[in-house]
Amino acid sequence: MLRIAPLCMIAAMVFPAKGVAQKADSLPDGVTPAMIDQGKTLYQGTGICAVCHGPDGTGATGPDLTDDEWLHSDGSYEAIVKQILAGVPADSSKSGIPMLPKGGSQMDDDQVRAVAAYVWSLRKQDRKSVV
Ligand code: HEC
Repeated sequence: MLRIAPLCMIAAMVFPAKGVAQKADSLPDGVTPAMIDQGKTLYQGTGICAVCHGPDGTGATGPDLTDDEWLHSDGSYEAIVKQILAGVPADSSKSGIPMLPKGGSQMDDDQVRAVAAYVWSLRKQDRKSVV
């Protein structure tokens, strides 16, 4: 028994580490954990997204970004980047409320890619808790 206990401790140390590696591997091409962090700050600040989509992304004037339903794209990272750049014109908005390109903010392309990484991660977390 005394010999088995250390083995269990090693297993407990190895398996969570493996989980973290898999999580990093599953990020879309070009997305880093640092971008997701930066995107969160932009989402709540410079990007003005939180005003319409809620501080946690669950929606207000704009739709919930954390649920399973995408209104305007397939929800892939690249599609989210394009969606934020283009906004949602009134004639394709489901609610009739438009979203300006970049939400009306003044972000550069790198900032848009970071905020898109954060939006992508909101859904991803949701999916993980279901699986
Ligand atoms: C003035 C309010 C407003 C702001 C600010 C805003 N949005 Fe939106 N957003 C909307 C509306 C309204 C829609 C489309 C709703 C509809 O079709 O009914 C939308 C749609 C979206 C979609 C598509 C959702 C889907 O289900 O396909 C994404 C992604 C999105 N916004 C991200 C952002 C991000 C990121 C920001 C910040 C850079 C942002 N929005 C800023 C109002 C806003």
